[in-house]
Amino acid sequence: MSQSTSPTPFSSSRCDKISGHADVPGDKSISHRSLMFGGIAIGETKITGLLEGEDVHCTAEAMRQMGARIKREKDGTWICNGVGIGGLKEPENVLEMGNSGTSTRLLMGLVGGHPIQATFAGDSSLSKRPMNRVITPLKEMGVEVSAREGGRLPLTIKGPETLQPIEYKLPVASAQVKSAVLLAGLSAMGHTTVIEKTPTRDHTENMLRHFGVRVDVENIQDDAQKISVTGQQDLIAADITVPSDPSSAAFPVVAALINEGSEITLSNILMNDRRTGLYETLIEMGADISYANERTEGGEPVCDMTVKGTNTLKGITVPEGRVPSMIDEFPILAVAASCAQGTTYMSGLEELRVKESDRLLMMAEGLKSCGVTLEMGESTLTIYGTGTPPKGLEKGKKIETALDHRIAMSFLILGTTTDNPVTIDDVAPIQTSFPNFVELMNNLGANLKTA
Ligand code: S3P
Repeated sequence: MSQSTSPTPFSSSRCDKISGHADVPGDKSISHRSLMFGGIAIGETKITGLLEGEDVHCTAEAMRQMGARIKREKDGTWICNGVGIGGLKEPENVLEMGNSGTSTRLLMGLVGGHPIQATFAGDSSLSKRPMNRVITPLKEMGVEVSAREGGRLPLTIKGPETLQPIEYKLPVASAQVKSAVLLAGLSAMGHTTVIEKTPTRDHTENMLRHFGVRVDVENIQDDAQKISVTGQQDLIAADITVPSDPSSAAFPVVAALINEGSEITLSNILMNDRRTGLYETLIEMGADISYANERTEGGEPVCDMTVKGTNTLKGITVPEGRVPSMIDEFPILAVAASCAQGTTYMSGLEELRVKESDRLLMMAEGLKSCGVTLEMGESTLTIYGTGTPPKGLEKGKKIETALDHRIAMSFLILGTTTDNPVTIDDVAPIQTSFPNFVELMNNLGANLKTA
C-alpha cells in the first residue's frame, strides 16, 4: 500500500502542449461494484476494462476472503464466480481496505447483510474518515458494529440472522451510504428504501438491475427520489464492460485546456449525467470540448471526446445543485479556475472536508503557495483567476498531498503550465485510482518525473 513505502516526491514542469490520444482506465465506482456484485451473483461474471488500481484490488481481495472466486486472465479480463446472496463466509483475516472509502462503505453494507463477523482496517487517511454515516442505518437494521471513537476504522461488523428492512432518509448526499443500505437490504425480508434529496451516482441501482435485481425508483418531489430493493432476490451473473472513468479523464482534459495549442482525444468515457458535472462546468467556462459517437455500452452512456486548449477559460459560479455530480472533481476544477480569467465561486463543498483528505484545505493551501489568489470558507472556495498561469512553487518547497490521489494529480497537472515547476511530496497514492497516470501524461507531452 502507498503508506508503507517511503514517499516519492515528484515534479511537473512546464510543457509545450498536451497532444495525442489518452486511454483512461476503467471507472472506479463501476469496477468496485462489478467485483462485489459478481462475487455475490449466481454463476460466472466476466469483466472487461476493470480498473486495476489499489482501491479495486482491496475490493477483490476482500471478496476473495469471503469466498468469492475472482481471477484475472492473461488478457486482462477478470472472472468472478459468485457465492449467491447470503453466501459470503466469515473472513479469517482483517479486511485491509487501504485508502478506499468505497470498498469500505459498500462492503460494510454487504457484510451487515450476512450473519458473519468482519473487521475492516485502512491506511492513515481512511482511518480518519467518518463511518457513522453507514454505521447508523446498519444498526437500525440490526447489525452490530464496534468502531473506534467517532465511528472510525478499524471497526468490526456482525450481521444478524434476520436483517430488518428500513426506510432511510440520507442525511448527506452520498452514493456510498445509499449503496451500503441497499446492499444490506438485499438480505433483508421485505423492502429496503433509501430517500435521497439530491441525486447521487446511480451505478448501484443500474448495475443491480443488470444482475437481474428489481430496483424501484420513485420521484417524490423536486429532485428527491425513493429507491427500493426487495430483499432475498438472487443476482444472476452478467458480463460487464467497464467504461473509462470521467473522474480520471478530468486530469488530461484540464491539462489540455490550460495549455494553449493542445488537442487530445479520449474514447469510451462514461457520460452518466450524475457524473458529468465537471464537463458541464468546463463548457460553461468556455472550454472547447466536443463529444462524438454518443452511445450506450453495458447499460451506461459513453462517448468519445476531443478537447482543445484555446486559453479562453472564464471564471463562473458553479451551481450548488451540481456538486454531487462532480464531487470528486473539485480539486482539478480549482486548477482550471486558477488558470481562468475572472472569479470562480464554488459552494456546497462541505463533503470535500471528509474525502481522502480535507480537499478544500489541501487545495486552498497548495494553490496559495503556487501564487493563486483565493478565499476559502467553511464550505466555499473562491478563486480569483487572472487569465495567466500561476507562478508555481518556490524552489525547495513541496505540495503536501496527505495520501490523496486527486490532490497529487491536480498539482502535477497545474505544473504543466506554471513558470516554476510544481513538486508534490508523494506520487504513490496515485496508484489507488490511475496506475498509469505518469506514463499517460508524459506520452501526451507532460514533464513529470521523480524530484
Ligand atoms: C463513490 C461515491 C462518492 C465518491 C467516491 C466514489 C461511489 O463518495 O466521492 O469517489 O463509488 O459510490 P460519497 O458517496 O462519499 O460522496
